[in-house]
Order: sequence, then structure tokens, then C-alpha cells
Amino acid sequence: MTASDILFTPVKIGDIQLKHRIALAPLTRSRSPGQVANTLNSEYYSQRATPGGLLVSEGTTSNATGIGYADVPAIRTSEQARAWKLSTDAVHKRGGYIFAQLWHVGRVSKSEFQPEGKLPVSASDLPAPGKEAPRPLSVAEIEEIVAEYKASAKLAVTEAGFDGVEIHGAHGYLIDQFLESSSNKRTDAYGGSIENRARFLFQVIDAVLTAVPATKVALRLSPFLDIQGATDPDATALFTYVFTQLQSRNLAYIHLTEPTWGAWQTGEPHSQSKLNVFRHLFKAPLMLTGGYTRESAAEAIAAGRADLIGIGRAYITNPDFVERTRAGHPLTPFADPKGFYSGGAEFYTTWKTWEEEQREKTKKAGGKTSEIPGAGVPKEVAQL
Ligand SMILES: Cc1cc2nc3c(=O)[nH]c(=O)nc-3n(C[C@H](O)[C@H](O)[C@H](O)COP(=O)(O)O)c2cc1C
Repeated sequence: MTASDILFTPVKIGDIQLKHRIALAPLTRSRSPGQVANTLNSEYYSQRATPGGLLVSEGTTSNATGIGYADVPAIRTSEQARAWKLSTDAVHKRGGYIFAQLWHVGRVSKSEFQPEGKLPVSASDLPAPGKEAPRPLSVAEIEEIVAEYKASAKLAVTEAGFDGVEIHGAHGYLIDQFLESSSNKRTDAYGGSIENRARFLFQVIDAVLTAVPATKVALRLSPFLDIQGATDPDATALFTYVFTQLQSRNLAYIHLTEPTWGAWQTGEPHSQSKLNVFRHLFKAPLMLTGGYTRESAAEAIAAGRADLIGIGRAYITNPDFVERTRAGHPLTPFADPKGFYSGGAEFYTTWKTWEEEQREKTKKAGGKTSEIPGAGVPKEVAQL
């Protein structure tokens, strides 16, 4: 078995038997004008789908107050959910699976995106760096938001055809704003102790679990990641509590962001990640994302530090990231973040597969047959 072969061993999430360990990490690409997913989005997801592989959708707005950026697709109405069906059908057609990432940005939003132009909402009135001061949510509003998560989760697995939902509890967005003490100064049942700060997260999870089976529910968190002003001096205690409480929920998987991601891939080696202290607490399969190469991904799986590895930027510029990994082909680098967060098809669906690159080279060389081994092998033949 070569190092990368371990990435091509099966793993089960919920009731789904995946055929390999590489997942598309959730990536906001801001190409859904009017907050409605479209055919361009479905082409993008289809390009990245593989037989038995997991994709996680970009963050999709699940709450009336949850939108944070222009052109992000929502999943709050039947119309929005049915529009997502274009993407889920396209992924299923290629034998892949796709979870919807449910997203409320909280205080990272702007008044211009809020109903009636009100202030964005959060646990407290503390602003994220460079943002407006939000207004703290009332208990009645918290209950409404919890109910919205449940409704969106239900739409996701019924009308939109997703295989499950990933609740976005990471990166300094609303759930994280409640969890971390730097952004939560509440004095009611949602603030103060760790148990209180985690109350909102567990209310969201438990509400979603009344509408969707646990086998289809996942959660993303980002312990130790210093991002958007949501931090905690005792993240070990906070997340030890959270992960222990999660054990009884039997979720499909838990997804953690490597804390070095903020350093844009210049952090410590993954083998020394601070996340490793939590490994023994997970009953559910664990996905790790952030700065992984094919080599470090294989190492993490081999060492048992993770069950799945999420790939973000490299999967943007390599729609066939999985196939290139299997075959050992070089990757198109992602150093230039042009088009990451905006644009149309360019820098979105125009990235080439390795085979397409070889065909173009052959064409340029005057139609001579490519001598590069594997070039031109139809995708259907590839063993995933
Ligand atoms: C363009 C872009 C958009 C992103 N959007 C999201 C998102 O919607 N939800 C989320 O949880 N993470 C998001 N992330 C973080 C990625 O999921 C991932 O953690 C990050 O890219 C690090 O992984 P990588 O080193 O493999 O790129 C985004 C990252 C990038 C570069």
C-alpha cells in the first residue's frame, strides 16, 4: 500500500459508505445572485463529485438574520431548496454525496443584509473586528433562530435532496459567538459558564435532530482558531465539554478546522496540532480541514488522527483533486486567490482536470498522441 492508498479506503458516515477519505470542504464562492442556487453552481459541484466521495456545500443561509455576504445561496424557502436540487441531483448522478452547510453569520453581517435594516445579531453587543456593534438576541429571538435551523435542515434533506446537513458552528460565526467567552458577555442562561455558552449550540443540534435523523447531521467547530474576534482563554475546557456532550448525539461526523488555517498554511505540522488532545473524545467519524496536502492527509489518516480530510483551496483549482491524488498527477497550484469569492464561471468552473490539460497540450503540440501515462483514460474507468 502506498502512502496515498490509505486515502482510498472506505469509511462510514451515518448510513453512507464512503469509498475514500477526501471531502470537499465547504467553500463560499458567492455565485448565487438573489440567494438562489443555480445551474452554474450545480456544474461546479458536479465537477468535484466522485463515486462514493463526500462534498460539503458552501455555507448556505439558514436564518432570516443569518446572511452575511452578497450572492450566497440560502435554504430558507421551498423555492431556494428546490434550486439546490439541481446541485444535489448532479452530485448523485456521479455517485457522490453532498451535505448542506447551514450558516448564520451573526455579528459578521451588515445592517444592509438584515430584515428592516436592523443591526446584525449576536450573543452580546460586542463587535467583530472592523464590523458594526451587533444587538444581543432576546431569548424569544434565540428560540426563533433555533426553529429556523430545524426548518432549513428539514428542507435540505427533503426538498433540496441533500444527504445531510453540516451545522456551521465554527470560524467566529453565530454559534461560535455564543461559545467563546470573548464574544459572549451574557448574564442569562446563555452566558457565563461553559454549559451556558454551549446551550445555544445544543438547542440548535437537538432541534435539528427532531427533524432529521442523527445519521444525517454533522457539525463544524474550530477550537483554538483565533478568527473574527471569537476566542476563549480556556478552549481546552470549553471544547472538552462540547465534545463530551456530543457523544450521546451520535452525529454523522464532526468536522474541525485546524487552528493553523488562519496562518494560511504556515502553522505547525499537523502531527503537532492542538486538536490532537481531543481525539479520544470522538465517537463519530472526525473530519479535519486546513492546510492539508495529499501527503499530510494520508499521514493523518494512517496515524488515526482523522477519519476524513477536508480539502478547500486545492479542490477549487483542481476539480479532479481526488482523481489526481489517486493517480499521483501534479496539482494546479492555488496560490492566487483570484475569483475565490466572486465572479461568474471564470475561476469557478473553468479550472481544468488533468486529462483536459493533457488534451490541450497535445493539441498545441500538433495533435500528437500524448505519451504521458494515463492521459485520456476515461473517468469512468478510474478506480475510486
Ligand atoms: C474561498 C473560501 C471560502 C470558504 N468558505 C467557507 C464556508 O462557507 N464555510 C466554512 O466552514 N469554511 C469556509 N472556508 C474554509 C474552508 O472550508 C477550509 O477550512 C480552508 O480553505 C482551509 O482548508 P485548505 O487549506 O484545504 O484550503 C472557506 C475558505 C475559502 C478559501
